[in-house]
Amino acid sequence: MKRSRRVRTTVGRVDEAVLRYTAGRDIELDAALVEADCLGSMAHATMLSRLRTRPPILRARDLAAIRRELAAIARAARAGRFRIRPADQDVHLAIERTLTERLGDLGKRIHTARSRNDQVALDLRLYSREQLIGTADDAAGLAAALLAFAARHAAVPMVGRTHMQPAMPSSVGLWASAWVDDLLDDLALLMGAFETNDQCPLGSAAGYGVPLPIDRRLVADLLGFGRVAHNVIHAAHTRGKVDSVILFALGQAMLTLSRLAQDLILFSMPEFGYFILPAAFCTGSSIMPQKRNPDVLELVRARAARVMGAAHEVAEILRASPSGYNRDLQETKEPLMEGFASTRSSLRVMRGLVAGVAIDEAALRRGFTPDVFAADRALELVAGGVPFRDAYDRVKADLASLAKRDPAKAIAKKRHLGATAGLGLDALASRIESAAHWVDAERRDASDVYRRLLGVRPRQP
Ligand code: ARG
Repeated sequence: MKRSRRVRTTVGRVDEAVLRYTAGRDIELDAALVEADCLGSMAHATMLSRLRTRPPILRARDLAAIRRELAAIARAARAGRFRIRPADQDVHLAIERTLTERLGDLGKRIHTARSRNDQVALDLRLYSREQLIGTADDAAGLAAALLAFAARHAAVPMVGRTHMQPAMPSSVGLWASAWVDDLLDDLALLMGAFETNDQCPLGSAAGYGVPLPIDRRLVADLLGFGRVAHNVIHAAHTRGKVDSVILFALGQAMLTLSRLAQDLILFSMPEFGYFILPAAFCTGSSIMPQKRNPDVLELVRARAARVMGAAHEVAEILRASPSGYNRDLQETKEPLMEGFASTRSSLRVMRGLVAGVAIDEAALRRGFTPDVFAADRALELVAGGVPFRDAYDRVKADLASLAKRDPAKAIAKKRHLGATAGLGLDALASRIESAAHWVDAERRDASDVYRRLLGVRPRQP
């Protein structure tokens, strides 16, 4: 039998192939967690230095040295100069190794009273906090672009459809501001996911606590968390569970985007010609010289499927995972990170695209066949006292008589809440504004934590 090649890691010797298999994509993916890991380590070290154990685990002057090295690692990571080696297995051991190389015994003390299990759970909470703030910002940006589009074309008639068939008079303003309302619901879900994410798992260690008088609340406060993930097993369970909550919220935003993309593809087809997509957001064909394809919109549609897939992937990994830490949980990292990346890039590209969409008012008007006014006419008869079913039958018998109707007048008559002449765009604007305030306040708090603990500014993702 072939003898296996063994590699020395910080935590024992392992077969090389096994190391590669178990580390999986951690070596690359963990690059996104270096700064979070430094931040968490600093909060943890600060807490250790305040413990009244005799002899002390860390002294005040040790803390200054640790802070200096952690800040240096965070800066190196930002400049793309911090390397996680395969023998490190992941970011946690890479940082511990680096600290030990530079600080000797002090580096060896940093892992007191913690485990990689609570460490990675914490890193992902810090990473997700930043990413959720960024996602909310991106979603508010797209909502603002859609609102501006709605305001520009508020009173332009457009056929409303059910079953994709012409149904009733509607407007471009109504169509566009519907997506704003949808996105504001998605924003509320993202903020809800932020709340769930806002709990500090550190101190759970392997999942069962430690026989040292650690101060979990202090660590949570230093890191700017709203609360401690109380029960230590529950704290271990936040890994994967919170990620799944986040992915379902991201998935909702992607569902909105995908349906919007589908409408834009449809209504910009020459057969409709309602909308003209900005040329810079369309791509050509290698064989057909005339082509301008809506590839961006098609990819948004497909990536929505992938983000929903990622949400299900994480939920499925959790479903079969017993209580406490199991290595299965490592596999939730990739879908989480890719879910954020896809959702955020989709929100951003759609913002630019929407800002550049032009409309063809004449084509929009051509969509108004006489039957589109049928229900409105029946309701006019009702207002004059005719029972609805009789009005319905009368209109149905003579649809041709609706030929001379003016779509602009029809949409001006729907004045109730949320209809074509009751869009309430100002209310939407102030909801977007409060989302933007939320983003600013949370971003400020999160970067204060970095400044206070490490003296560095966080990347602004
Ligand atoms: N890379 C690992 C993960 O993402 C870190 C935790 C490893 N813990 C362990 N007990 N092997 O889950």
